[in-house]
Amino acid sequence: MIIGKIVSGLGEGRYFLSLPHYRSSISRLLFPPYPGTLNIVVDKKQAVLKDRLLKEALYVPGFHKEGKRYGAVYLLPCSIAGRRAAFIFPEINRHPAEVWEIIAPFHIRSAFGKKDGDLLEVEL
Ligand code: CDP
Repeated sequence: MIIGKIVSGLGEGRYFLSLPHYRSSISRLLFPPYPGTLNIVVDKKQAVLKDRLLKEALYVPGFHKEGKRYGAVYLLPCSIAGRRAAFIFPEINRHPAEVWEIIAPFHIRSAFGKKDGDLLEVEL
């Protein structure tokens, strides 16, 4: 079980998940993702688990488009209150190590009435 505090990002998740390459790869491996990522802040003790978790993760290779490189992402299936979701760990990550991103086939905040600062429990 991972517990984190919900925070807002920079709206980048929405952009990346709108790109057809990521959308179709994630849909094929897991589910059609809601276009965005929910960010949580985990504590340091949990943050160090990341390298171990990455070993079990699904891999979506990166690609090039119009001279720009889009990095690979790792997907780790999880669930939130019994509903399917996944951690998404980008290879090129501008967030600090304690910020983890989650995707789901639904909008997590409205499904569970969550806002910034609320805790989210995620089952691995
Ligand atoms: O703006 P931010 O970078 O935090 O997020 P976004 O990727 O643009 O996603 C838009 C909003 O939907 C944010 O408030 C996310 O926390 C939320 N979200 C969600 O509740 N469930 C998802 N499956 C994906 C995003």
